[in-house]
Amino acid sequence: MVKAVVLGAAGGIGQPLSLLCKMSPLIDVLSLFDVVNSPGVATDLSHIATKAHVEGFVAAKGDFKGEQQETEDAKKAALTGADIVIIPAGVPRKPGMTRDDLFKINAGIVKDLITAVAKYSPKAFILVISNPVNSTVPIAAEVLKEAGVFDPQRLFGVTTLDVVRAENFVADLLGQKDSSKFNIPVVGGHSGNTIVPLFSQTQPPVDFPADKLDGLVHRVQFGGDEVVKAKDGAGSATLSMAYAGFRFAEAVLKAAKGEKGIVEPTFVYLPGVEGGDAIAKATGTDYFAVPVELGPNGAAKAINIISKANDYEKKLLDEAIKALKTNIDAGVNFIQKPS
Ligand code: NAD
Ligand code: LMR
Repeated sequence: MVKAVVLGAAGGIGQPLSLLCKMSPLIDVLSLFDVVNSPGVATDLSHIATKAHVEGFVAAKGDFKGEQQETEDAKKAALTGADIVIIPAGVPRKPGMTRDDLFKINAGIVKDLITAVAKYSPKAFILVISNPVNSTVPIAAEVLKEAGVFDPQRLFGVTTLDVVRAENFVADLLGQKDSSKFNIPVVGGHSGNTIVPLFSQTQPPVDFPADKLDGLVHRVQFGGDEVVKAKDGAGSATLSMAYAGFRFAEAVLKAAKGEKGIVEPTFVYLPGVEGGDAIAKATGTDYFAVPVELGPNGAAKAINIISKANDYEKKLLDEAIKALKTNIDAGVNFIQKPS
């Protein structure tokens, strides 16, 4: 029996992500939690004739004592017995905002939700989508550490959308219809210049004009802005993110069932993953997105492809690392030194 939980299930990402989970043969119980509308989303999905049994839980409307208890009970019911918890809860960007501008609201949301995960499903794989990922993952780690249940192999920042974009934009540039044949590692973090596509490591190798490289890198780094601008105040990427989030969740579940050879880039706490120490030493950061081999217990091995970066990519990595350190510190300090 595999139980998957979506926290923030009624949102722009949460709804299509929940639909993809409902379609998955890998999931037996799908449990949805949000502060609004989750029972409606659950009832709607429950009419689809696929195997996952769907349950919906919602927070109480207010914050009085009895209502706080009601919300806690809903989180407990949603999370108990979870094997995988996917978290797209939080506010999205509007034009003119950076992902870091979301910290003020989303840091507290992630802290609260991870506190509940630590209590009710401490052994679950935790997939953090809420932005800014570079800070929300360290927040999650610190909350789990304080609760004494942190397992670095089971905590992932979802950066798959950057990989999906890189694969798709390269296919576009080469005039190829099928982007799924490309495998492009994207490392670093998940915002602006912390996103570093390593096109030199593309499989199968690609050859595009050198004068196109800057534009291509910029498009991957700022692909999120393209969507925010096009949606014109109505939010950020939701459908492509639901696809990317599900792709990563499916990879984690398949590896948990014993499938071998699954590798996906993801933002992890390096010192807790085999092979991560060398990358932490090389980058000077504890958190970094790298290709990770997934196994029955989650992140089995961090693969050091950073050492193979060419000179152009090394410059990108230097810039990424500087920005990333500030983001990571902000997340760690939010828990360790609350103001
Ligand atoms: P949205 O506003 O459409 O949905 C967010 C949902 O979270 C809402 O239904 C809201 O009610 C719910 N929510 C808020 N506080 C909650 C709480 N305490 N507990 C449970 N649910 C709560 O936003 P969206 O477009 O779905 O984006 C969600 C987040 O995902 C944003 O922070 C966005 O920046 C981020 N995002 C990340 C990536 C990535 O690649 N990692 C990609 C796209 C978006
Ligand atoms: C993305 O990359 O699309 C997301 O992180 C959402 C955003 O704010 O751009």
